[in-house]
Amino acid sequence: MDVLLLLVFMMVVLPSLHVVESVRTPVLENFEYCAVNCRAYSASVTDFGGVGDGTTLNTQAFRKAIEHLSQYSSNGGSQLYVPPGRWLTGSLNLTSHFTLFIHKDAVILGSQDENEWPVIDPLPSYGRGRDTQGGRFSSLIFGTHLTDVIITGDNGTLDGQGDLWWKKFHNKQLQYTRPYLIEIMYSDNVQISNLTLVNSPSWNIHPVYCSNVIVQGITILAPVTSPNTDGINPDSCTNTRIEDCYIVSGDDCVAVKSGWDEYGISYGMPTKHLVIRRLTCISPTSAVIALGSEMSGGIEDVRAEDILAINSESGVRIKTAVGRGGYVRDIYVRRMTMKTMKWVFWMTGDYGSHADNNYDPNAIPVIENINYRDMVAENVTMAARLEGISGAPFTGICISNVTIELAKKAKKVPWTCTDVSGISSGVTPEPCELLPGQAEEKFGACSFPEDNLAIEDVKVQTCTYRRNL
Ligand SMILES: *[C@@H]1O[C@H](CO)[C@@H](O)[C@H](O)[C@H]1NC(C)=O
Ligand SMILES: *[C@@H]1O[C@H](CO)[C@@H](O)[C@H](O)[C@H]1NC(C)=O
Ligand SMILES: *[C@@H]1O[C@H](CO)[C@@H](O)[C@H](O)[C@H]1NC(C)=O
Ligand SMILES: *[C@@H]1O[C@H](CO)[C@@H](O)[C@H](O)[C@H]1NC(C)=O
Ligand SMILES: *[C@@H]1O[C@H](CO)[C@@H](O)[C@H](O)[C@H]1NC(C)=O
Repeated sequence: MDVLLLLVFMMVVLPSLHVVESVRTPVLENFEYCAVNCRAYSASVTDFGGVGDGTTLNTQAFRKAIEHLSQYSSNGGSQLYVPPGRWLTGSLNLTSHFTLFIHKDAVILGSQDENEWPVIDPLPSYGRGRDTQGGRFSSLIFGTHLTDVIITGDNGTLDGQGDLWWKKFHNKQLQYTRPYLIEIMYSDNVQISNLTLVNSPSWNIHPVYCSNVIVQGITILAPVTSPNTDGINPDSCTNTRIEDCYIVSGDDCVAVKSGWDEYGISYGMPTKHLVIRRLTCISPTSAVIALGSEMSGGIEDVRAEDILAINSESGVRIKTAVGRGGYVRDIYVRRMTMKTMKWVFWMTGDYGSHADNNYDPNAIPVIENINYRDMVAENVTMAARLEGISGAPFTGICISNVTIELAKKAKKVPWTCTDVSGISSGVTPEPCELLPGQAEEKFGACSFPEDNLAIEDVKVQTCTYRRNL
């Protein structure tokens, strides 16, 4: 009898005591990480009923958490921790003075249910959605009119489960434009860092109408055949720093934008003061860095350096069209290494692709002061294809100290140029005659700014996460 009781006690009571114990004892999570701003209040998504089992929908848990934490916006700010697990959720709307921290063994999984994605208005500078007329699905991580927002981790993951969206796109089953993984609108002081983004439904990171944006330490992975999975698209933003990113995707690795045709012209908000450095890109059907094609608000003062491109269609590409208006000027690129490229340089003045038929045929984009220097490329099909606009040539093109080794199956004519003007120096193979070679003393002729942009001087601090709510 006693033995039986003891057995029952050991089998039933002891394990249940252990369970009760582990529920009651709070798992105190303390850790440090780097960010431009630290926060006073901390919480975990599990405090709001989140379950990271990959199947429980956490949209409400996340929304409750962010709503609760938003009360600290003007009182030291707050941070929301996403612990190890697979956290299925719909679109989340962030708040100000807020950090979302994603643990390296955590995956935020985008829901496949369209009802979990609120529909928002098209961007005023685009006039319509990119996939369809009208509305757009709000992004997985979304924020608008924010001050000081940080999305970071120690390489935690956002997984857009894009497959279903890509199928809907190909089968023309989309009612609205596909969501992005991260979109932050009308915000100042934005940090997106130390994350891995996989299988986005469409673009990956889209800061639009923002200032003071840092994107750092981001890995972006999407099948090279997936539609419009651009890496990072700074759009009508001022003061942006993109660095230490590794991107493999089905579209441009970085695409600099500023609105589309008549909508972008009337909105009139350029992308300017942009630094891109230490980027590795694999983009077999697109560009490493694209400027446009939506550039109607203007693009100016872009500084890109230390770029590695592998198996990509083009290195730097300017895309524009009559009707875009706007400008692309003061572009500086140096120290690119390229392996297996179709074109090293590509400029397209007749990209077409209009928002609608109401574009102004007199809105001619101005492309000027484009500087490319200190580059090496190997296994290249064609060195450059530079096509400006008839009657409105692209001017002030400068290419210096660039060595391009052509592939065995290269095109016979390595350079084709129309409606462009500028100079070259120390470039092989010899450029087209619209870019006449200069004497050796002009070897480093193409300029690169020597000053620092304000965003380059922003420093990170060491922050602590300590659960205290
Ligand atoms: C990303 O993580 C690295 C390594 O921990 C750190 O040095 C860096 O400052 C982080 N980036 C940002 C923007 O906080
Ligand atoms: C996000 O929140 C802001 C206010 O904080 C609101 O104006 C906006 O409509 C919300 N957007 C979505 C998609 O929920
Ligand atoms: C982050 O994770 C990705 C995907 O697993 C990996 O490729 C990358 O090297 C990791 N980055 C860092 C800094 O650990
Ligand atoms: C030319 O470019 C190469 C490769 O980037 C670089 O190592 C070298 O210093 C450059 N030469 C000059 C004169 O700037
Ligand atoms: C050169 O490029 C071709 C495609 O244009 C590719 O098939 C081949 O593997 C590349 N060779 C090297 C050595 O990378």
